Amino acid sequence: MNKCMIAPSILSGDFAKMGETVSNVEKWGADLVHCDVMDGVFVPNITFGMPMVKAIRPYTTLPLDVHLMIVEPEKYVERFCDAGADIVTFHPEASKDPRAALEAIKAKGKKCGLVVNPDKDISLVKDYLDIVDMIVLMGVFPGFGGQSYIESVSDNIALFAEEIKKSGRNILLELDGGVTEQNAARFRALGITVLVAGSATFKAADKAKAISVMRG
Ligand code: DX5
Ligand code: ZN
Repeated sequence: MNKCMIAPSILSGDFAKMGETVSNVEKWGADLVHCDVMDGVFVPNITFGMPMVKAIRPYTTLPLDVHLMIVEPEKYVERFCDAGADIVTFHPEASKDPRAALEAIKAKGKKCGLVVNPDKDISLVKDYLDIVDMIVLMGVFPGFGGQSYIESVSDNIALFAEEIKKSGRNILLELDGGVTEQNAARFRALGITVLVAGSATFKAADKAKAISVMRG
């Protein structure tokens, strides 16, 4: 069975102790730290912005995988890169010029990616397969942690994995939302290479074990 990388979402962590939280995520054996940025406009919830990314940066050597759920991401991508993000992803429908935003991230020497909601398909991102380093498939509608995985997304996973293969490029395929110790193996088998795991990591009694089970 394929192994994959695990990216705990700090959305499920203790907001009063974020430095400690990201150090712990590294100790538990995670591969990336997933940071969910929400603006209350693109999604019905508000989390944090560049200052949080900058504040946690010294507390881990793991790459910071910053998921922007904000309108007009092109206005902010460079500032997230400067704050310490290693990967910046956003929802293309929220941007007036997705390619310009992707190019701006690359110009900062960082990895860029696009996020696909459960009701969208490959046509949303097909034009950008020449530039993205990561595609994120949402397993839930974005806005909140702890939701149940939407089963119909599985049809998309195999299709996206195939398109990525055809592109001949080394593009990570991340699944975000609803991942558990129980369903992780299925997603690895379908071609997912990065699993976001918020509640599945933070609610586990043995967090290191949960990460290792999900990684495969
Ligand atoms: C949803 C966020 C996800 C979410 C994952 O809007 O983008 O990253 O926090 O949480 P779990 O793993 O609990 O579904
Ligand atoms: Zn996310």
